[in-house]
Amino acid sequence: MRILILGAPGAGKGTQATFIKEEFNIPHISTGDIFRENLRNETELGLKAKSYMNEGKLVPDDLTIELVKDRLSWEDAKNGFLLDGFPRNLNQAESLTKFLDEAGVRLDAVVDIETDKDALVKRICGRRMCKDCGASFHVEFNPPKQEGVCDHCGGELYTRDDDNEETVLKRIGVYEKETSPLIEYYDRFGIVLKIDGNRSVDEVKASIIDGLKGKNDR
Ligand code: AP5
Ligand code: MG
Ligand code: ZN
Repeated sequence: MRILILGAPGAGKGTQATFIKEEFNIPHISTGDIFRENLRNETELGLKAKSYMNEGKLVPDDLTIELVKDRLSWEDAKNGFLLDGFPRNLNQAESLTKFLDEAGVRLDAVVDIETDKDALVKRICGRRMCKDCGASFHVEFNPPKQEGVCDHCGGELYTRDDDNEETVLKRIGVYEKETSPLIEYYDRFGIVLKIDGNRSVDEVKASIIDGLKGKNDR
């Protein structure tokens, strides 16, 4: 399956991506995770992306689009993928459509997780992420079994530099202005699966997996 996951910062894209990639056996491609990995390794891309990320702004399209096209050309993405955090504006969406058209394939589903703003801020401000596998936890809503340690891989948990109230409000603003119009863009293809994100992780997971299986069987 070829899937996109859309939703504001803190909606649960990364959390749900872990379940989706296992269910459909596809790679999880998160532009945010790729930028953070580059930042940790102090690559040129990471250093360029850093100031945009820390200010809650979008990294420029000329850095982002080529990166995704390259990643989608890897062998593991030939039969399916789950894109998280890309596309984030109309220009990125149109580039992706063109790229997929040229490859003779199309998206099967766009998962749109809709969550109230109050919940987003609470989730972001209590998030802890794994340094090694990128898994998300929350001090209150989704605590790891052992404090500071990832349940999945034993990696160390940390707080992202952009996870503070000031930056998250900016990121939500960018989402509303630049990214939310993509829901209408993909509605024209009839592939949007709207999900109420104001529920528990397990409830959201069940609706997404059921909805995607329905699209897969069509
Ligand atoms: P990115 O890493 O994509 O961040 P984001 O879009 O702001 O989204 P988050 O990762 O913050 O939220 P999420 O939905 O994954 O939530 P999660 O599952 O972790 O991008 C970061 C930056 O990189 C951007 O600001 C930009 O600068 C740059 N960038 C990336 N892609 C780009 C692109 N294409 N173009 C340009 N720039 C780009 O969950 C959040 C928390 O809530 C966790 O603590 C989790 O445990 C908890 N939680 C999850 N679900 C629930 C639930 N149902 N109930 C209670 N708690 C929950
Ligand atoms: Mg994420
Ligand atoms: Zn981990």
